[in-house]
Amino acid sequence: MSNVLLNVNGIEVIYNHVILVLKGVSLQVPEGGVVALLGGNGAGKTTTLRAVSNLLAGERGEVTKGSIELRGERIEKLSTSAMVERGVVQVMEGRHCFAHLSIEDNLMTGAYTRRDGKAAVAATLEKVYAYFPRLKTRRTSQAAYTSGGEQQMCAIGRALMANPKMVLLDEPSMGLAPQIVEEVFEIVKDLNSKEKTTFLLAEQNTNMALRYADYGYILENGRIVMDGAAKDLRENEDVKEFYLGMGGGDRKSFKDVKSYKRRKRWLS
Ligand SMILES: Nc1ncnc2c1ncn2[C@@H]1O[C@H](COP(=O)(O)OP(=O)(O)OP(=O)(O)O)[C@@H](O)[C@H]1O
Ligand SMILES: [Mg+2]
Repeated sequence: MSNVLLNVNGIEVIYNHVILVLKGVSLQVPEGGVVALLGGNGAGKTTTLRAVSNLLAGERGEVTKGSIELRGERIEKLSTSAMVERGVVQVMEGRHCFAHLSIEDNLMTGAYTRRDGKAAVAATLEKVYAYFPRLKTRRTSQAAYTSGGEQQMCAIGRALMANPKMVLLDEPSMGLAPQIVEEVFEIVKDLNSKEKTTFLLAEQNTNMALRYADYGYILENGRIVMDGAAKDLRENEDVKEFYLGMGGGDRKSFKDVKSYKRRKRWLS
């Protein structure tokens, strides 16, 4: 892959010294790409993002094998703030806004690492408002009283206030109506094409994610079970059956679907 920005190479992650969650995950994110990390509950999506942005320590988690490189630099031992300085920010699952702060104050908390002065920060704020006009109209509202969609936009907007090169976006669709999910993804796409912001997004909503991503990885039980160009994954029969809800019958696991298919081919 040309111009690899992020290279995750065979990482293993253990929580509390004993719980092995990632069992050798490898993935690449090209500069300027939108890559989706797909999988069901507990597959390890959030853990993978935390490993990249160095948020594992606070969860008593640790990368015990493999390496993570950002533009060739090993980063798995860096602090979260060192990652922000390198332009990598994470939007956490569940749209964490400060409930008692206004939308604008929430956004401003995202600029705390900036050293380029007030005028530059103000310019970024205006840019965020240009991408999220809804936030501008709600700028003085207390976050607690805004809608789920506005809170998700606020969480993304706050990440953008750090002027990131790469945003790790954890389940932006969670709990939102389809139309709002679409609105959020449209903005992500816009940011990607105009600002060249790179995205690694974790999603259970396979259908939506594959419409907006260039490339996807499917994670199951701490392992990547499949990866490919988003358009190929969308057409893939196994993905359709297991993740896009187009197949019939009992679905157990992606792997079962695959081996079942393989067996069928073997018999026929
Ligand atoms: N802090 C933690 N301590 C111990 N185990 C954890 C911790 N965080 C996550 N896990 C476990 O790691 C596994 C992967 O969880 P993770 O949150 O990465 O999955 P996910 O793919 O993001 O799932 P979801 O779609 O539900 O958010 C799960 O079995 C979970 O119980
Ligand atoms: Mg998660």
